[in-house]
Amino acid sequence: MVLATSFIASLLLLVAATPRAPRTMVVHESRAAPAKGFVQSAAAPAEQELTLRIALKQNNIAGLETELYKVSDPTSEFYGQHLTLEEVTEFVKPTNETVAAVSGWLSENNIGAKPVTPAGDMLEIKIPVSQANDLLSAEFSVFTHVETGKTIIRTLQYSLPALLTQHVEFFHPTTIFAPPLRSKPKLVAASSAKRATAGSDDLPDSCTSTITPACLQELYGIPIAPATQKSNTLGVAGFIDEWANQADLTTFLTRDRPDINSSTSFALETLDGGSNPQNRSQAGVEADLDTQYTIGIATGVPVIFISAGDDSPDGLNGFLDMIILLINEPSRPSILTTSYGFDSETDLPISVAINLCNTYMQLGALGTSLLFSSGDGGVEGSGSCAVFTAPFPAGCPFITSVGSTGFDEEDRNIERGSTFTSGGFSNYFAIPEYQAKDVAAYLAFIDSLGTIPESGRFNRSGRGFPDVSAQGENFEIVVGNQFSNVAGTSCSSPTFASIIALLNDELVAVGKPTLGYLNPFLYSSVGRAALNDLTIGINPGCGTDGFFANIGWDPVTGLGTPNYTALRTAVGL
Ligand SMILES: *[C@@H]1O[C@H](CO)[C@@H](O)[C@H](O)[C@H]1NC(C)=O
Ligand SMILES: *[C@@H]1O[C@H](CO)[C@@H](O)[C@H](O)[C@H]1NC(C)=O
Ligand SMILES: *[C@@H]1O[C@H](CO)[C@@H](O)[C@H](O)[C@H]1NC(C)=O
Ligand SMILES: *[C@@H]1O[C@H](CO)[C@@H](O)[C@H](O)[C@H]1NC(C)=O
Ligand SMILES: *[C@@H]1O[C@H](CO)[C@@H](O)[C@H](O)[C@H]1NC(C)=O
Repeated sequence: MVLATSFIASLLLLVAATPRAPRTMVVHESRAAPAKGFVQSAAAPAEQELTLRIALKQNNIAGLETELYKVSDPTSEFYGQHLTLEEVTEFVKPTNETVAAVSGWLSENNIGAKPVTPAGDMLEIKIPVSQANDLLSAEFSVFTHVETGKTIIRTLQYSLPALLTQHVEFFHPTTIFAPPLRSKPKLVAASSAKRATAGSDDLPDSCTSTITPACLQELYGIPIAPATQKSNTLGVAGFIDEWANQADLTTFLTRDRPDINSSTSFALETLDGGSNPQNRSQAGVEADLDTQYTIGIATGVPVIFISAGDDSPDGLNGFLDMIILLINEPSRPSILTTSYGFDSETDLPISVAINLCNTYMQLGALGTSLLFSSGDGGVEGSGSCAVFTAPFPAGCPFITSVGSTGFDEEDRNIERGSTFTSGGFSNYFAIPEYQAKDVAAYLAFIDSLGTIPESGRFNRSGRGFPDVSAQGENFEIVVGNQFSNVAGTSCSSPTFASIIALLNDELVAVGKPTLGYLNPFLYSSVGRAALNDLTIGINPGCGTDGFFANIGWDPVTGLGTPNYTALRTAVGL
């Protein structure tokens, strides 16, 4: 960080005396209208200060991807040899030529820049609206989100000097109109049936109507004994003023994990003005669910609740800032579970989506497993039904997307996909190598059904999701001192993440590296054999049945649900 700062500062001095020359401006990004739900209200006040991020071309992102697969493929001799921050930085830093070109232009305009990332591939500038309009031939205006009344300053188009277009990915936030992040899990009617408690021998009947940690332990063979390795930590992402409440956690543990200390707590880390007030009336359903089902399942694993506030200069509700924060941390969590997302990848310009996805790649290369709930919109997402939409970041190949399952209504012993599970194919990201055979097999299966309403509504060359799944219906939680049941892929991601956390704990205990980026392992022959392949389930939407679960990978249940005993063996324990 320090190096990058001083490097840019000295370049600014060098070129300060160069006379200003006329520039040919080229439109860099534009859109015809704001996104649905936003209206243009007025010109932005000329003196108002804007904070803008400039993403510079990274010198060798393809090289980083090659390294990532080398260290994440269990058949590679480099498996588990996660990269250092210095090694990652070498791939993502911009070239000297890029830095010189962009710094020169900024200093000609008397604009100071500060690096946002350790590699200096993203810069932040603060300039008034009037100067931004001149600099970028833009028309920054005030736009109002009709539903929430929140206002943002954006432009429908901006330009760059022709000589800079090869050096700059994008200016941000400019043409992005990201709606609020996807909201919380749904509250569902709680059953009055007797609940299971820890230590049961068989899956109790009650688990088909109310899921507790004991149900998940029994169903997936999750160990109950506490983890021992304090270095292996599990991060739980918090956004949109969702706060995790300690008193709710204690009430939950008292009833649902009577075998562990009910005062077990989580550490707190904040960014972008985040906080975690403990007024019980302000407890968040999502945040309480995520902390209760990590601490309640990953017994003894240190959990860190990472709370992003509303003051997010990344223009992405803190989604990028949280990842940059973790990249910068020497003792970053080995796993991050996130139960938030954007309903449609088209909420993000493709340039921004690719940049954020590549930032996940960096964190994966450093050895952190990234798990995200796949989304709760079925096959439909929130887009037009002409083509099914993928939520973000489900389509990013560098994260593990987790779908939801429940028990079949006709045969309560059968685990099947949940109808609300988002699953399908990305329109932004191509099929990664690790799932190429799986997607081809699935396409052959769906083609064998003949012409069906789904035909032609999805992208046959897009990355398929989810990757895996776990239970996500009727989870018993405590919110604001009330026991409630909730449903959503929001339940599934913390569950799967907790299983990875316990595997990591055992790996660290015998001196082995943590699992890091999971997908090449999960899709390998040993990885998939350790998952329960589900073959029942659909995710309807857009007047169709959606996709169908099938033998092997499918875009409803992914590769399947975890079997801890089998996973232990698969990771070499
Ligand atoms: C880029 O600049 C740095 C710092 O001035 C210098 O050490 C390095 O050799 C330069 N790299 C190239 C390829 O010119
Ligand atoms: C339970 O945890 C709390 C908080 O960490 C601690 O203060 C207390 O001593 C623990 N109680 C027992 C019985 O271990
Ligand atoms: C807790 O929040 C409620 C509702 O926002 C408020 O009425 C109450 O005063 C708060 N209590 C404390 C102790 O802050
Ligand atoms: C389908 O996915 C590919 C690969 O990501 C992409 O290049 C293409 O534009 C997508 N097609 C549509 C219609 O979105
Ligand atoms: C989980 O894996 C173990 C060991 O491979 C196997 O004995 C057991 O039957 C599996 N459980 C399920 C539910 O498939």
